[in-house]
Amino acid sequence: MLQITNNSTLRTQIILFPEKNVQELTFFDEIEKKNIVEKLNAGVKMLPITKQHKIYILIPVKPTENKNESYEKMRIAGNNLYKLMVEYKEEKIAFSTLGELDKKIIKSFLLGLNLSNYQFDKYLKTKNSFNIQVQLSSKTLDKASIDEINLLSASTKITKDLVNEPVSFLTAAQYSKEIQKIGKEAGFTVTVWNQKKIEQEKMGGIIAVNKGSSAPATFNILEYKPLKPKNKQPLVLIGKGVVFDTGGISIKPSTGMAAMKCDMAGSALVVGSMQAIALAKLPYHIIGLIPSVENRPGYEATCPGDIITMYDGSTVEVLDTDAEGRLILADALHYAKRLKPELVLDFATLTGSAMRAIGREAAVVMGTCSKDVKKKIKKAANRTGERIVEFPLWNEYGDYMKSDIADLKNLGPAEAGAITAGKFLQHFVDYPWMHFDIAGPAFVNGAYNYRGKWATAYGVRLLFKFVKNLTKDVNKKRKTKSRNNAG
Ligand code: BES
Ligand code: ZN
Ligand code: ZN
Repeated sequence: MLQITNNSTLRTQIILFPEKNVQELTFFDEIEKKNIVEKLNAGVKMLPITKQHKIYILIPVKPTENKNESYEKMRIAGNNLYKLMVEYKEEKIAFSTLGELDKKIIKSFLLGLNLSNYQFDKYLKTKNSFNIQVQLSSKTLDKASIDEINLLSASTKITKDLVNEPVSFLTAAQYSKEIQKIGKEAGFTVTVWNQKKIEQEKMGGIIAVNKGSSAPATFNILEYKPLKPKNKQPLVLIGKGVVFDTGGISIKPSTGMAAMKCDMAGSALVVGSMQAIALAKLPYHIIGLIPSVENRPGYEATCPGDIITMYDGSTVEVLDTDAEGRLILADALHYAKRLKPELVLDFATLTGSAMRAIGREAAVVMGTCSKDVKKKIKKAANRTGERIVEFPLWNEYGDYMKSDIADLKNLGPAEAGAITAGKFLQHFVDYPWMHFDIAGPAFVNGAYNYRGKWATAYGVRLLFKFVKNLTKDVNKKRKTKSRNNAG
């Protein structure tokens, strides 16, 4: 938590400053400063100095060529400070800066520090939580920026908690309850279609995937509509909500299967980002769509070879029941057509193939939206450190998904698995669209700096930034237009 206070008298004082400005550390004498310079020259990144019952922790900022890289470095520096404070058992710290620093550098550092305040300790008898409170003056950083850091940290926590929850708690029905609660508090509406409604609507993909489960599926429609949105047609966010993926009849090997509780991470980032956008009251109309199921083997489970009829009427030969994400997403993508969206983004832990291709460092994306929109997505991705790599959607890959006995099959060849999954989804799209395969970055086994371990909430900050920038873009356009009209 960041708190605004003037003249904090806390014992631990964090000071962020441009490396070359050591002379401005006026509360140290010349000998001490000489010492500091020596240590900094030796490459020390965090320098604790005890003086008159206070601990000063000096954090130098080096100039770098690439801005986005330096913001990521600062977020990581924030996490390093968090780890040092855990060692010191110090939860209350004061923060200030010296000299000329780019505001985004300060924000990135504090964000990395604040995002580190996360533990999934709901099921622990003895809680191990360690939450740093940072006191700073509004002269160090403006209130709006401080609020935004606190907000993004809270939304990240919501997404992480949902992803880390096992299916013993988070069934599809329970997930809907959680989303409704979050929506009520943040200011977006949530409509839940239950199993019966899904069957009436003939959402064949969702029905087929959930058939082996004794728990009902849901289809969740989230809507955030501010009074004066900047967009005429909604931005639609779709998220894969498989609360557990055993693979179904094409069952997965047991090693590592526990991680498949993360298979709703795509939808959890939709919930978290909509929460942030709604609480920040960004003037943008957004609709979230979350198909939620459990993929299990069972007496009635869909069998390999089954042919199902999707929501849009297409038939699909299900050759592998573990390729289930595309089946439920396809129904949501079809539903989105009636919303006449300006843009649809879908997020899914869709393929091991995407993860093998680029690991946890980025999402694999592909889509049909304009170059301009892709550029804007890329900008937000690079700025937030939630990076993307674009794969091609060449027609040839589409041929791999043709079936002899149905309109499509859900399994391609061993090669290019992330792309063939994307091509499958493209079949259900008739609007500008981008698909994010987040199987790599969404859930990680070891500690991953300020992102933590297990759920990372990949995508929440990217989407918030993207939408925030969109509200600014439209502003810019409006201004030039009125100027032109006036002239
Ligand atoms: N949920 C998995 C993908 C996944 C893998 C997510 C690793 C997170 C980490 C998905 O449903 C799946 O099983 N995909 C199959 C598709 C294949 C059968 C075409 C895969 O990638 O192996
Ligand atoms: Zn699967
Ligand atoms: Zn899956």
